[in-house]
Amino acid sequence: MIPWLSPLRIRAALATLPLALPLAAQVPIPAAALAKLPPALNRPVDFKTEVYPLFKSACFKCHGPEKQKGKYRMDTREGAFKVTGDHGPAIQAGQSSKSAIILMAAGLIDEMLMPPPGGKPGESDPLTPEQIGLLRAWIDQGAGWPEGPIADVVTPVRFDPDLRKLLTASCANCHSGPGAEGGFSVDSLERVLAGGKSYGKVITPGDPRKSSLLTILAGKDEDIPKPEAHRVPDKSLKTVEEWIRQGSK
Ligand code: HEC
Ligand code: HEC
Repeated sequence: MIPWLSPLRIRAALATLPLALPLAAQVPIPAAALAKLPPALNRPVDFKTEVYPLFKSACFKCHGPEKQKGKYRMDTREGAFKVTGDHGPAIQAGQSSKSAIILMAAGLIDEMLMPPPGGKPGESDPLTPEQIGLLRAWIDQGAGWPEGPIADVVTPVRFDPDLRKLLTASCANCHSGPGAEGGFSVDSLERVLAGGKSYGKVITPGDPRKSSLLTILAGKDEDIPKPEAHRVPDKSLKTVEEWIRQGSK
């Protein structure tokens, strides 16, 4: 007998054939569960300013340019509309209740809640009913996705209310009123732009690299008294940087 055709080998080979495939067929979602899906928002939604930014903040960490968990990539149209392995099309235009991203975001598919729970608090929060409603509305309205790359939507950062709030909370203890330390006051946009007695201006509107305020707030200015009182969390630092980039208004 030719060794590689022995019956045992043939049986072993047959067992690996795709006979197991039908087991992986899509499991239907019970109607009672579907009825609990948050309703689609009852207004026109905008892909570029509402849907794409939500994908970006909630999903790209695992399904974006860098990582494609589950071989799924959502930052391109082609990738986002993939037919998933086991749960039908990720996005079925016009039919949000048949779109895997909705069923997963709502936790209706076992073990496939997206984003998956875990990670640091605030990092993988489940989508809110409003956010699911937004995605449903977009899909039901035809799931339009314009050709070509999507430009980042920039959220405007303004002195009022963003910077006033941040600076008041972190700095007003020492930099407010007539006795403001170093003559630097956070009481108004004009005062902040004017700077202090020894440093002068610490902000160059539109140019974060020329704005020494960012060095101070990063805790990297070695001359400032009380450097620890000047260090702010990374998130606040990014807000201030974005505010300067946008022209410090
Ligand atoms: C922290 C990482 C992470 C985040 C964030 C995340 N996912 Fe996932 N996703 C995964 C992993 C891991 C898998 C593969 C799971 C598996 O196959 O068991 C997956 C699989 C999927 C799949 C199935 C792909 C396929 O072909 O089977 C879809 C659809 C999906 N995710 C949608 C989303 C959506 C929509 C979001 C944002 C609302 C999101 N995911 C956020 C980790 C993540
Ligand atoms: C605990 C008090 C304290 C806090 C809080 C504090 N600072 Fe200061 N800051 C000082 C002191 C003291 C000086 C030095 C003043 C001097 O040289 O007379 C100073 C100096 C400065 C200067 C230089 C002023 C000059 O002399 O030209 C700037 C700019 C500044 N701080 C910004 C900030 C900002 C922005 C915050 C909030 C993120 C902040 N500081 C929080 C105490 C503080």
